[in-house]
Amino acid sequence: KKSEAWSALFSEPMSDLVKRYTASVFFDKRLWKADIQGSLAHAEMLAAQGVISQDDWAAIQRGMAQIREEIESGRFDWKLDLEDVHLNIEARLTQLVGDAGKRLHTGRSRNDQVATDVRLWLREEIDLIDGLLGDLQKALLDLAERHAEVILPGFTHLQVAQPVSFGHHMLAYVEMFARDAERMRDVRKRVNRLPLGAAALAGTSYPLDRERVARTLGMEGICQNSLDAVSDRDFAIEFTAAASLAMVHVSRLSEELILWMSQSFGFIDIADRFCTGSSIMPQKKNPDVPELARGKTGRVVGHLMGLITLMKGQPLAYNKDNQEDKEPLFDTVDTLKDTLRIFAEMVGGITVKPEAMERAALKGYATATDLADYLVKKGLPFRDAHEVVAHAVKDAIARGVDLAELPLATLQGYSAAIEDDVYQVLSLRGSLQARDILGGTAPAQVRAQIARHRARLAG
Ligand code: ARG
Repeated sequence: KKSEAWSALFSEPMSDLVKRYTASVFFDKRLWKADIQGSLAHAEMLAAQGVISQDDWAAIQRGMAQIREEIESGRFDWKLDLEDVHLNIEARLTQLVGDAGKRLHTGRSRNDQVATDVRLWLREEIDLIDGLLGDLQKALLDLAERHAEVILPGFTHLQVAQPVSFGHHMLAYVEMFARDAERMRDVRKRVNRLPLGAAALAGTSYPLDRERVARTLGMEGICQNSLDAVSDRDFAIEFTAAASLAMVHVSRLSEELILWMSQSFGFIDIADRFCTGSSIMPQKKNPDVPELARGKTGRVVGHLMGLITLMKGQPLAYNKDNQEDKEPLFDTVDTLKDTLRIFAEMVGGITVKPEAMERAALKGYATATDLADYLVKKGLPFRDAHEVVAHAVKDAIARGVDLAELPLATLQGYSAAIEDDVYQVLSLRGSLQARDILGGTAPAQVRAQIARHRARLAG
């Protein structure tokens, strides 16, 4: 019995400290569903191959059905003494169905078992995350559509650069989250391969049908080398890398929401249900959700570093180090899912303040490029036009006015090519309208992009 010593080979039981140190059941029990699923696929194949009897297979199914029921109802007695989810379930199975339970592990090791379980579990989580990324994109598209015509100062170096449509700005995030979803789907292909059959490290002498197990489990392929199958966790690492990027994108959005909600910007409000107050300052309403998301990004990126470092010194094949893959992976999934869920909701609770955005866009000579482009159209080389406009801006700064507020005669002092029609060009709306190029900020382009994204997400 495991609670005593591992086997007849051992002369003394494990110390309690070591038991606790090596046990993983308290976190890996969340793999239970995948563990049962993998065991059933393995047992079905063992019976089909004649390695175990049909009666054994029937008994295993019966036992597993009861175990499933016990776990779901919270009555399953998880034992630290039984180390991990795999041994807990197998021991209970044997309790329930006797020798058939003891035959389940034929041709299998916990090494190929755990690698299979983690892959099955992660595959399902990836599908959920893909859906949540879709929900967030849809929420951003709704926000973009409602505010396609709203003018926001576009920044580079956080200095006012050129006016952009608020909708266009939101669409930038839709692109990022669309790529995150694409990466998830790509990682899924490599997650969805079968380690079972690799056994401990070298394969097995039983006539296992690995293809059959892969088909039963809906896997797209089989890990072709037994040593690699049980030992590499690159699939978990690349998932965590994709998750880190998704969190980084959320974090960039968070940073903008936090800035925009601060009094110095005053561009947006976030619905009260996503904010918190202060215990001392009665006037405070703080954007805690985006701040926490920005903070939690560090945590997920930390898990990526943890997992990749876990792998780097391991010789082939399985090493117990790999048990340490679970907590960072689980926490990455939990953190990403919670964050995406809450953001999809919060984005719907953003109030845009168009006047404040427009006022800010009027401040930093955001249409200076438009004046230069105007001069180019009148025949000046771009570099000369650039210089002419720099003089005009310098003058406007000295007078404390916008370019559009300079009298025509003054503007004509910088270039004789300037005519009455310049004022249309200097307006924020004119500037936006002019960038009517694929991927540009003209409201017509923004609308076309929204339609494209909606079709993609529906398809
Ligand atoms: N709990 C272990 C893990 O998560 C299962 C595999 C253990 N295998 C072994 N030979 N100790 O990696």
